[in-house]
Amino acid sequence: MQRLVSGIQPTGKMHLGNWLGAVQNWVRLQSEYEAFFFIADLHSLTTIYQDPSQLRQSKIDLAMDLLAAGIDPERACLFFQSDVPAHSELHVILSMITPLPWLERVPTYKDKIDEIREKDLNTYGFLGYPVLQAADILIYKAAAVPVGRDQLPHLELTREIARRFNHLYRPIFPEPGDQITEFQMLPGLDGRKMSKSYGNTIPLSASVDDVSRLMKTMLTDPARVRRTDPGNPDVCPVYAYHRIFNTTERCAEVASDCRSAAIGCVACKQDCADRINAQLEPVRERRAGITEPRVMEILDAGAKRARAVAAVTLGEVRGAVGL
Ligand code: TRP
Ligand code: SF4
Repeated sequence: MQRLVSGIQPTGKMHLGNWLGAVQNWVRLQSEYEAFFFIADLHSLTTIYQDPSQLRQSKIDLAMDLLAAGIDPERACLFFQSDVPAHSELHVILSMITPLPWLERVPTYKDKIDEIREKDLNTYGFLGYPVLQAADILIYKAAAVPVGRDQLPHLELTREIARRFNHLYRPIFPEPGDQITEFQMLPGLDGRKMSKSYGNTIPLSASVDDVSRLMKTMLTDPARVRRTDPGNPDVCPVYAYHRIFNTTERCAEVASDCRSAAIGCVACKQDCADRINAQLEPVRERRAGITEPRVMEILDAGAKRARAVAAVTLGEVRGAVGL
């Protein structure tokens, strides 16, 4: 089996947007590859270093969410990035051969510094973010890296670093391929993209009642003021949810009932909440079956397996660079 690597930053609880995008894809891929999935706690320090007080809990919550979502520790290796020090060691070695302009050129670099004004991202660690990501990938000699489109520049840089290393010393690293996950964009409760930073999310850990309650607050067709006004499902985020969580037939019914005002928004939202809840049922069941100590046990075992694989590559690398 080919190796596959991917990481996710622990920035708060997983929401339905993360779940539909990256995480369901991971669950699918874990049976096709020898998968290494990690919680990128070091990467998250690049932006939250000034206040890491939530980090510990966020890591555990995310691990729990991933297991509830169906990451199977019997198949995939799941661990905390910082529990496998070889990532950091390879990062230092790769940093020796990475030209500064390669990093300054990464499109996300200057954008993020401008975008996240409230934090001082003018650090060595933040500039080196993609080198650490390259180390995450190359330490396992991964063939495939499933990521969102926004991560492509980081993968391209990973390949460039691999080529440079292979050329300077000896060919150790295969160039990883990308596996772009085409996310179906999930709107948040306010109709903008679902994102923790907008505070418009439905958490994966939401209870049946939470889902109904949150759906009630969701934006609808703003032109549909009274129950008797006909609506336009095409501009309604609730309808976008039906399209994702409901059957094609039911969607057609909802659309036509909305246009003729045969259905009210309250009932339409409850119908949608019921569909979401049905899909979350297996997630809730898995969550109920795992305790926090068991989560820690799974992550420790994952780190142990990952360390064994990473040690082999690190040994080769140390030899190649003369250490
Ligand atoms: N940078 C990735 C993101 O923000 C997370 C990540 C860290 C990652 N290391 C990785 C993804 C290695 C894939 C492979 O989404
Ligand atoms: Fe949106 Fe449903 Fe209301 Fe139509 S009936 S506007 S689809 S919530």
